[in-house]
Amino acid sequence: MSSSRLKKQLALPLVATALFAVLFYLVLPAFAPSPPPPGGQLQTAAPVFYWVQLLAQIALWLSLMFVGVRLAGAFLFDVVYRLRKRREAPSLVRDLFSIVVYILVVAVILKTYFALSLGALLSGSALLGVILGLALQDTLGNLFSGISLHADKPFEVGDVITVGKWMGVVESVTWRAAKIRTFTNHIVLVSNSQIAKEAIEVCPRDNPNARLVYFNALYAHSPDQVIRVVREAIRETENVRLKPPPIVRMRNLGDFAVDYEIKYWLVDYVQHNDTDALLRQRIWYAFKRAGLQFAYPTQTLYFERPKAAASPAADAETLTGRLSATDIFAPLNADELSQLVCGSRSHTYAPGETIIRAGDEGDSMFIVRHGNVAVQINDNGQPRTVATLGEGDFFGEMALFTGEPRSAHVVAAVETEVLEIGHEAMKSVFDSNPDLAETLGQTIADRRAGLAASAETGDQAKASAGVISSIKRFFGLD
Ligand code: CMP
Repeated sequence: MSSSRLKKQLALPLVATALFAVLFYLVLPAFAPSPPPPGGQLQTAAPVFYWVQLLAQIALWLSLMFVGVRLAGAFLFDVVYRLRKRREAPSLVRDLFSIVVYILVVAVILKTYFALSLGALLSGSALLGVILGLALQDTLGNLFSGISLHADKPFEVGDVITVGKWMGVVESVTWRAAKIRTFTNHIVLVSNSQIAKEAIEVCPRDNPNARLVYFNALYAHSPDQVIRVVREAIRETENVRLKPPPIVRMRNLGDFAVDYEIKYWLVDYVQHNDTDALLRQRIWYAFKRAGLQFAYPTQTLYFERPKAAASPAADAETLTGRLSATDIFAPLNADELSQLVCGSRSHTYAPGETIIRAGDEGDSMFIVRHGNVAVQINDNGQPRTVATLGEGDFFGEMALFTGEPRSAHVVAAVETEVLEIGHEAMKSVFDSNPDLAETLGQTIADRRAGLAASAETGDQAKASAGVISSIKRFFGLD
């Protein structure tokens, strides 16, 4: 307890003590020479002045009691307890100390001035017992709930709790109630007996408490990009724990948007409203920078025009450019390239999705348009990455050009867009330009030798001739 608070608490009892002392020792003796002697029997027939003197004396003792209890409490709990335990004494213990001392002093006063025993008084009078029992029902209920709360310690000062409709930070727990400061800075006193009856949600101060924040994004945006952008935004937000790392995941495919959920852990849970708000704000800016959009209720009407069904010329041009930039298709002329583009399809794979499975039959090859893929082989039951291929690289050519089963797994390492070129498209190119098999066979053999670290570095020309003859056989060019 601070010294200014102690001063405030002592002011009233001290003033009362001074007033009663003046009344009892200076004013009243001017009217009657001697005060009533303590220890006598209750004098019901005594004159009124006798009662005034008696009550003034008792009031003086009671005021002194208040001063004494507060001073003793300050010494015991603010000095001794704090020095020994190195923390603030619980309010409940302070309150119990005061209550016990008050009861003892009242018992002594009753005994001294009225020769009455408190125990005998309570046990002797059934009516008094009933009246006191009824009057103290709630008070005692709170007191005992307070004692059990103190023993169980389901929460402590500084924790965030929710009891009934109240949520806030616990400021103190007294013998009667827990004091909660709500997030609108109001003080709520929840009685101990209510706390004992209700289910309480406790977010302890030193616990990594988690929060869920929701947002949505347009269907047009890929989940991989949205999740990456949001994860980055969360990392920048104050009061968010880095461990455990925040989780961003798809929650629902909604009517007009993809719904996402963020689960993150806070450093200081008391600040959760501010942190949620900051997080949303960071996501908004991150979305804007990345060209992403939140969704709002929309309805999209599609008008289909038969002519527009053909692939747009601009896109075909881009694809042609992309293919000619690939080593393997560099020797093809513009007509051959557009023949290939017409027979190709674009696919998008999520990170970790398998594009090609080793051992499968395969009659198409792939060009990486965006992203990258891992080429994996089976190494004693474990996948081992032998190569990573990026934008402009190709894979799946071995099965396409030789008809052999797929030689490895190919897995998307990140979100990846690939262009798939089928056997038919290749065949039409070979038909119009049979010499291409030589060029392609040479390129494939070169690449194979370069990529396969474990390949026997034998006769390069022989390997190339082998590939060329198997291409010719497979495409019926002999
Ligand atoms: P294919 O055998 O049709 O299917 C698996 C593909 O993985 C294979 O064609 C090649 O394109 C590719 N691949 C196999 N081994 C390697 C390697 N060592 N380096 C790069 N790519 C490879």
